[in-house]
Amino acid sequence: QELQLSLEQIEKGGYDHFMLKEIHEQPKAIIDTYRGRMLADEGIIRMAGIDDNLPKFLNADRIIIVACGTSWHAGLVGEYLFEDMARIPVEVEYASEFRYRNPIITEKDVVIAISQSGETADTLAAIKLAKSKGAFVFGVCNVVGSSIARETHAGAYTHAGPEIGVASTKAFTTQITVLSLIALKLAKEKGTLSKAAFQTYLQTMQLIPAQVEKLLEIDEHVKNIASIYKDAKNCLYLGRGFNFPVALEGALKLKEISYIHAEGYPAAEMKHGPIALIDENMPVFVIATNKGHYEKVVSNIQEIKSRSGKIVAVVTEGDTTVKEIADHVIEIPDTEEAFTPLLTTIPLQLLSYHIAVMLGKNVDQPRNLAKSVTVE
Ligand code: AGP
Repeated sequence: QELQLSLEQIEKGGYDHFMLKEIHEQPKAIIDTYRGRMLADEGIIRMAGIDDNLPKFLNADRIIIVACGTSWHAGLVGEYLFEDMARIPVEVEYASEFRYRNPIITEKDVVIAISQSGETADTLAAIKLAKSKGAFVFGVCNVVGSSIARETHAGAYTHAGPEIGVASTKAFTTQITVLSLIALKLAKEKGTLSKAAFQTYLQTMQLIPAQVEKLLEIDEHVKNIASIYKDAKNCLYLGRGFNFPVALEGALKLKEISYIHAEGYPAAEMKHGPIALIDENMPVFVIATNKGHYEKVVSNIQEIKSRSGKIVAVVTEGDTTVKEIADHVIEIPDTEEAFTPLLTTIPLQLLSYHIAVMLGKNVDQPRNLAKSVTVE
């Protein structure tokens, strides 16, 4: 029997959709992103774009991160990384707001522009504005030779490989990987992390790809959860600290491919409004890993439970407290708090993917969306 495969099927590499292929490519994409840059055994991070411009970073009054959509969410994780590790003040801006706000920018600012495509019109305009005010602009792009890569003074590619699905997946985790490397490198140069802590971070980062691989194996469990909540009309995503941006990203992933209304919130903000929405019809996806503000998130989960909300919690392996309260738990392997977004993101991507497939939506090309937003 003749085997006929279309070009698209070949490109999908045996997966039903590009999005699923790209989700599964993340272990390799993360390795490709740190390969040659992070020399864990030698305790070195080597990044030409940073090494060649080190004084700019070390003397910066602040770092301003500009981006849109998922890249903006990666920027928010970057804020936590840079402030926590390297003690540099960071502001994260929607490029579209920044460019029209008459922002205060000086020669002592470093602007980091994050973009998968490197073609996003608002991000490009924000870069041009920052350059005209004398700021040093550093790009974090995936597409080699893209407009943003060419327009910035220096940069670091994410090396995620082509991302075809409109919903960004591996671009996000590799952006976070690059931002982690930069934060660690600056922390080492500034002496804001002890040698031992720096070394621990490097060793821990090396474990991430295998941990992502392991997480991908729980796909059936996530699919089962997806089948339970696929008909929800609204969903809430909550997280704190490093995982607050992951809550935003989880909600964005769900809304863009399944068209279900979803909102991401910092968990503690729940009592300032969203708690009014919670009833037995409201699934709440809560990231409750064992580090950081765990107890506080647990009490948020209790508040949801007492209002009959349905709770799906992303927890650290071996967690028992949340397991008793939540309707479902998804376990992630243990890691440094700063790296948890690289793991907590994975089941949320899978969850959105399965819900969209079950609802019969066009996963790779959702309605009204383009992969590169080259117009305002
Ligand atoms: C992500 O899933 C979205 N499709 C979208 O938010 C995207 O991240 C945004 O348009 C920014 O694109 P960029 O990274 O190519 O600049």
